[in-house]
Amino acid sequence: MEKKIIIEAKRLQKELTDHSFRYHVLDDPVISDVEYDYMLKRLIEIETLHPELSIPDSPTKRVGAPALDSFEQAVHSVPMLSLDNAFNDSDVQEFHQRIIKNLNRKEQIVKDPVYTVEPKLDGVAVELRYENGILVQATTRGDGQTGEVITDNVRTIKTVPLKLNATGKIPRVLEVRGEIIIKGADFAKLNRIREKNGENVFANPRNAAAGSLRQLDSKITASRPLNIFVYGTGLAEGIFFNSQADMLDALKDFGFPVNEHIQRKLSIAQVLKAYQFLEEMRETLPYEIDGMVIKVDDMGFQQELGNTIKSPRWAIACKFAAIEETTVINDIIVQVGRTGTLTPVAILEPVNIGGVMVSRATLHNEDEIKRKDIRIKDHVVIIRSGDVIPKVLKTIKEKRTGIETSFMMPETCPVCHGKILKEKLDRSTINRCVNLSCRAQLKERIRHFVSKKAFDIDGLGKKIVVQLVDEGLINSFADVFNLEYKKLVDLDRMAQKKVDNLLAAVDASKKVSLKRFLYALGISHTGEHAATVISQEFVSLDNIMKATKDQFEQITGIGAETAAAVYDFFKDMDHQSVIKAIFDSGVVISAGQPATWDVRDNYFKDKRIVLTGTLHQMPRTQAKKRLQALGARVTSSISAKTDLLIAGEKAGSKLKKAHDLGVETIDEDQFIKLFGKQHG
Ligand code: IVH
Repeated sequence: MEKKIIIEAKRLQKELTDHSFRYHVLDDPVISDVEYDYMLKRLIEIETLHPELSIPDSPTKRVGAPALDSFEQAVHSVPMLSLDNAFNDSDVQEFHQRIIKNLNRKEQIVKDPVYTVEPKLDGVAVELRYENGILVQATTRGDGQTGEVITDNVRTIKTVPLKLNATGKIPRVLEVRGEIIIKGADFAKLNRIREKNGENVFANPRNAAAGSLRQLDSKITASRPLNIFVYGTGLAEGIFFNSQADMLDALKDFGFPVNEHIQRKLSIAQVLKAYQFLEEMRETLPYEIDGMVIKVDDMGFQQELGNTIKSPRWAIACKFAAIEETTVINDIIVQVGRTGTLTPVAILEPVNIGGVMVSRATLHNEDEIKRKDIRIKDHVVIIRSGDVIPKVLKTIKEKRTGIETSFMMPETCPVCHGKILKEKLDRSTINRCVNLSCRAQLKERIRHFVSKKAFDIDGLGKKIVVQLVDEGLINSFADVFNLEYKKLVDLDRMAQKKVDNLLAAVDASKKVSLKRFLYALGISHTGEHAATVISQEFVSLDNIMKATKDQFEQITGIGAETAAAVYDFFKDMDHQSVIKAIFDSGVVISAGQPATWDVRDNYFKDKRIVLTGTLHQMPRTQAKKRLQALGARVTSSISAKTDLLIAGEKAGSKLKKAHDLGVETIDEDQFIKLFGKQHG
């Protein structure tokens, strides 16, 4: 290859990167769009002829890559936690007092810690991994431990640097976290175009951002108006920050967009003022925010405070008050849920509440309707806050004209016409259809069973599940795996190709992780989080089925209700035969949690490890989980097969046995050091 070409490619790559940054981040272009497009076209030409010149941070990567078949998964080096919520000033004061109390446990005296406050952006959380300054991977938050790899898609976002600005030393590894958003005006334009093309419109900017990021074809993502603001880091090797404020400044210097309404180093009194101020200016911002995040500024303090299982103790999200609108209730219908609960739902005259069209609101139960005296045709105030399902706050009695009618709970199930049982709870009565073969319940259970976080069967959407249950092709969980081509292809709206795809998706779903399996069963009080924790603790279904109620209660993060529900579920003979039928249909649970195939190489990967003695820097259960996340097998008894013993304080017989067997042994400090190397 001619040297001239190499020089030209390098020059174009550098100049285009600079111009793109000036245009998208600094909002200060110095060349015209036509000139930019011309240079880009030339670079694409060169890189197509000489692919070896197409480096990972070339601006050509922004136009999208060949489409993928599916997203890979990756374990986060440092879990992506969520935030605890505060709803008013006194919650914030309590947070502040908790911080002071926790920081004063040791000899030090901390009276007035300072905080950095940031708008809470209502978008999609992502992590960007840079190695030696180059963007090598982007992932979604996923369940916090494992996310989906969306690198090609994220490279198309013009404000995401493909290479860090080198103002100083470039860290070997830097994982940067932030929120991908779509601005209000861009969102409206996107929906106008979609409507014109006869496509479904997005409900709100957050859904539009999430939908755009989950495209297997990154060229589609490239056409969407995505933006990013960054606010934190994951693993960082070769760089250290003293404070949140310093970190934000460093990220800005590296070329990342950092939100301009962040306020640094405030006293708690100033924090409360900032909260009011931000809530007032919320409407004027070009993007959606749903609160303010308060973070302890000092990184040393952040480390000292640490995390609970779900969220850091050093940060809190202050939610803004919910948004309200008035509308009319056109009708009240009754829905039958997965467990047979009858829920009255208000069908509303559609109303736009803070950018979201709302046409239904839950009325919870019969007592709530009575308590609030809600009638059909009433004018009502609806409230929507964050992710919460819209609720009817109150009726506007002054607007009644006399046409309003009271709602009556049906005497029998509106779907199967079976008997309804009234269950008295503390403050309300629950109406429940007790017919276990009620089609409505079955439909809901199957929908949950095949949903994204459960068996994740593509092609078994709501409509098809309803159709298959109505046609009698699905009467139980196991039937999902025994669908027959001949019967499916005869159904309405079922083309050959669709059946092929569906059966392939069913087949692919048969290998499932324990966590998904547990979640799919739809045990009450057992959501994604409980399923994750329980599967990590017990590792196999066999262990779960044999466990005592007490063992479930012992698990950090599992409450008494969940413990009882899980225990009762597996004791039930009917449930046991339902589970057996699922396995008889060819379902297998993939061993180990989480799977090891997507774990990056590290010191602990694939080692058989035993933990013993007292650890001071993290509970043993947590150490176990983190080791498993790094691909280690943590076992309880030591043998010649053991690769490593981690011996905390007062380690006894196991330590001796390890010596006798010649098993490598390390103490807690060495462990934390090695661990730090994997985790930063
Ligand atoms: S910090 C350990 N800062 O809110 C948690 N999060 O409920 C660190 N979010 O998943 C999160 N703006 O998607 C942080 N300025 C901000 C944020 C922010 C929005 C989102 C983020 C996170 C969720 C937590």
